[in-house]
Amino acid sequence: MEALEAILTRRSIRKYSNKPVSEEAVRTLLEAGMSAPSAMNEQPWEFIVTRKREALLAIKDVHPYAAMLAEAQRAITICGNTAREKRPGYWMIDCSAATQNILLAAHALGLGAVWLGVYPNQDRVEPISRLLELPPDVIPLAIVAIGYPAESKETSRRYDPERVHEEKW
Ligand SMILES: Cc1cc2nc3c(=O)[nH]c(=O)nc-3n(C[C@H](O)[C@H](O)[C@H](O)COP(=O)(O)O)c2cc1C
Repeated sequence: MEALEAILTRRSIRKYSNKPVSEEAVRTLLEAGMSAPSAMNEQPWEFIVTRKREALLAIKDVHPYAAMLAEAQRAITICGNTAREKRPGYWMIDCSAATQNILLAAHALGLGAVWLGVYPNQDRVEPISRLLELPPDVIPLAIVAIGYPAESKETSRRYDPERVHEEKW
């Protein structure tokens, strides 16, 4: 898939078939995440890959908007390692770029995926950190649920010329 086509047609997919997702595909998603830009090239990210059904269900149980994990084949939790930061305060921006890269790569591979927000909701950060046994410097930003799509969605056309300002506001 062309990069521009992937960007323009990506949608959140929350229903998945039981077709397995290969380890090669997961590796490609992780490479895409780690190819993101970051402040001073600090690359403060860490990724937790969840494969076991019981672990996917445990995350679902502590996240209020993650019911699709019951059927997802994999989840990738994108975390910021504050000990790796060169510019304090940038980890969540860098990790957001990594998360978006994973979503676009999943779509390009024919997978369905959705961004599940964790940070800055402390009531999600704390239980997910506990479940994934994260050290204190590592903060979960987002979880991406992944599987082959069992729903299809129309492209959402969001271009709005009113949001574009020429030279000045
Ligand atoms: C920071 C962030 C947090 C989100 N959290 C959730 C979530 O917890 N559960 C969920 O089902 N979708 C979540 N989404 C997905 C949004 O609902 C979705 O991107 C939005 O409705 C636009 O739809 P689209 O992704 O199909 O274009 C989140 C997206 C972002 C960027």
